Amino acid sequence: MIDKIDKKEVLVGIVGLGYVGLPLLLCFVEKGFKTLGLDIDTRKTEALQRGVSYIRHIPSSRIAAAAKTGLLRATTDFSAARECDAILIAVPTPLNKNREPDMSFIVATCESLMPHMRPGQLIVLESTTYPGTTDEVMIPILERSGLKEGRDFYAAFSPEREDPSRTDFTTETIPKVVGATSPHGLAIAKKLYDQIVIQTVPVSSARAAEATKLLENTFRAVNIALVNELKMTFMRMGIDIWEVIAAAKTKPFGFMPFYPGPGLGGHCIPIDPFYLTWKAREYGATTKFIELAGEINTSMPDFVVYRAMEVLNEYGKALKGARILLLGLAYKPNVDDDRESPTYHLMEKLEAKGAVVSYHDPYIPVIKPTREFPHYGGRRSVPVGKEFDLIVVSTGHEEYKSLDADTIGVPILDTRNVFAGASPLIHKA
Ligand SMILES: NC(=O)c1ccc[n+]([C@@H]2O[C@H](COP(=O)([O-])OP(=O)(O)OC[C@H]3O[C@@H](n4cnc5c(N)ncnc54)[C@H](O)[C@@H]3O)[C@@H](O)[C@H]2O)c1
Repeated sequence: MIDKIDKKEVLVGIVGLGYVGLPLLLCFVEKGFKTLGLDIDTRKTEALQRGVSYIRHIPSSRIAAAAKTGLLRATTDFSAARECDAILIAVPTPLNKNREPDMSFIVATCESLMPHMRPGQLIVLESTTYPGTTDEVMIPILERSGLKEGRDFYAAFSPEREDPSRTDFTTETIPKVVGATSPHGLAIAKKLYDQIVIQTVPVSSARAAEATKLLENTFRAVNIALVNELKMTFMRMGIDIWEVIAAAKTKPFGFMPFYPGPGLGGHCIPIDPFYLTWKAREYGATTKFIELAGEINTSMPDFVVYRAMEVLNEYGKALKGARILLLGLAYKPNVDDDRESPTYHLMEKLEAKGAVVSYHDPYIPVIKPTREFPHYGGRRSVPVGKEFDLIVVSTGHEEYKSLDADTIGVPILDTRNVFAGASPLIHKA
């Protein structure tokens, strides 16, 4: 297998062609590997076959170029998995309604692959998950094929560190951590990733690799909670947290800037730490930092609603009946990804208090119904205008930075420090 990888004679399968799986697949194609994309969503597999993108920050030209090489194939037919030498899995790992790990996507994927396994394959899980998933969930299902891990096939875990829309670091330039259950599995997985990324970092086990990802995301969740708490504290003291962070980050060591906001969003930071909390219980361990960070971060939309009331009050208005425009629905700047976006929580909370809420987002013209907020499905982005009583900035999209508060002429509550200048219309939250 190592020799075949060197000669680019392996077929690399990617299961789950979303924000993580698609760039990974393209990376292998661009390095000259034959690839097979597997997904349950025919919309995605068909778009890839046609050379068309379905993710905003990945241009169709890149997919068309990949399709033209003849190295890209995409299908929903899992029997094709048998042809693959290596299979990398990047399917969703959300929380269920009790905020426990939802393993159903990983389980379903392994069950779809199991009947089509053959000796010699490498199967790598990339989905973010709790330590033990590869050993306790993935391998037992795959072994129902009659093949034995470490002898007939190899399993590994390599966490995905993709940051969609980021331009300074790409899939290729972000080092990749990999852990496996056998030395041979680790050697093969490392060899494979060495072909596409600048550095592969081997660790002693799949568990260590799973834990690495959770450390990274817990670090972010805890630090974001810290600045959110400091924001509220400094605000009472009349100090602007944004000014303080800008000053603190001039220290060349021992400080890393994190920024406050209206709450956590996205597929990772609000979710992943709770995978660890859940698993820790099995060992009688508690994760107090994670719980505290979760508490602070989930209370942020309430703080924004309180600030909205305060600001409207300054203008002699009540929240009840106020027309409010939420600026930004995506959970982070310059993407079309609204998963777990705090803007939805703001919408719900503001509407519960009688406000009439609209949103604007250049990346999300219409809301697709989601499991958590099905009632917002179909709502459309509206233009920024003077008819609102208050505009609340909830996402720091690049285009918002050129807006001028005085030209808009409406009070603005800025949770992202997007509005520059000293207009009396600008308020912070
Ligand atoms: N999006 C990010 O920024 C990011 C970053 C790092 C890690 N991750 C992790 O990577 C994993 C994937 O995240 P994503 O953002 O790419 O998700 P996504 O929802 O964008 O993509 C997942 C894909 O898996 C497909 N899928 C679902 N069930 C399947 C099945 N049974 N068989 C085949 N395909 C199936 C879906 O149709 C979808 O195309 C998650 O564990 C996530 O936590 C995401």
